[in-house]
Amino acid sequence: MLQAFRERFGSAAGLRIFRAPGRVNLIGEHTDYNLGFVLPVALDLACYVGASPSGDGRIRVWSENRRELREWPAAEIAQLRPSGDWSDYVVGVAQELIRAGIPIQPRNLMVRSAVPEGAGLSSSAALEVSCARALLEDRAVDPLELAQWCRHAEGTFVGMPCGIMDQYVSVFGREGAAIRIDCRSLEHEAVTLPPGVVFLAVNSMAKHALANSAYKERTRECAEAAERLGVASLRDASAERLETAHLPDPLGRRARHVVTENARVEQFVAACREGDVPRMGRLFLESHASLRDDYEVSCAELDFLVETAAGLPGVHGARMTGGGFGGCTVNLLRPDAADEFAGRISSAYQGRFGVIPRIYSCRPANGAEEITNFESIPAPG
Ligand code: GLA
Repeated sequence: MLQAFRERFGSAAGLRIFRAPGRVNLIGEHTDYNLGFVLPVALDLACYVGASPSGDGRIRVWSENRRELREWPAAEIAQLRPSGDWSDYVVGVAQELIRAGIPIQPRNLMVRSAVPEGAGLSSSAALEVSCARALLEDRAVDPLELAQWCRHAEGTFVGMPCGIMDQYVSVFGREGAAIRIDCRSLEHEAVTLPPGVVFLAVNSMAKHALANSAYKERTRECAEAAERLGVASLRDASAERLETAHLPDPLGRRARHVVTENARVEQFVAACREGDVPRMGRLFLESHASLRDDYEVSCAELDFLVETAAGLPGVHGARMTGGGFGGCTVNLLRPDAADEFAGRISSAYQGRFGVIPRIYSCRPANGAEEITNFESIPAPG
């Protein structure tokens, strides 16, 4: 990346590189904005941002993935309006820092992301957090505030009112562990994953146009369900209260998903600790059924991948992960079954949808950090 940076900007003097990971959510889907529980892992697939002083008062951002350059006078960053493209993530985060009283220095930035876009693996959170770290350099900030600034940038400047999960785990991820986040208290604990299992993400390569509008619709439905139940958020709704309330359809089903999914996170964490892998697998399948039938955020491609996976040897369970309407499934399986699984799920999916799915192994990695060994940065592409 050093070489690429020098070629792009003419000099790499003072170059520093920061990485922030994508994530795969193991369980706790659409619970974060209901102030419930989630259990994501940060991935070793990450976004890398190199930064060095530009020396001419300007901020430049080169995206290696898009092969596009954007630039602005640093002094004008605070006044910029959203432009509707990838640079909104960078400008949105910069504006959050300015709002927090942190001046933005003129910099040349280079972005190289290994997190696939549109796969439900949080390429946007990885971009936001890595840019924020690159713009902050040595300035010490509260990591929780960092995650909140990035989330806020996505909600207000980019216009996607997401929950806190993706940015949070991109900051706080831990090698070898999943992160159980309480999205109300914003506290977390690392949950060590039992030995003898691997997680694979299978990318359906589908991204349905419905995703953003449906996400906003679900957040509205949940707010309405909470109001009708007389609770501050669905986090506070109990299964008993839900049953006696007889909410109209679809609000009742939406709320039931959130209430049962929160319970599944707690059960999954317990199963992890006890090493009860079959139970972890069953909870995956129950979560998927609830997202498909009650929350209605799955799609034919994801359902097919989950059903196919469930019938393959060595697979304990599978479910859609992320916002839904495309993107990835996450699969829990025996390590020695991984190769056969990859081959068989690929050919089944190709046979049905005519598309080859991409498969990623989900090794839990650390959250955002500065990279000192530039050699460790993956090549572009
Ligand atoms: C997207 C959002 C997250 C979360 C998930 C669903 O990834 O960015 O905040 O709501 O969907 O669990």
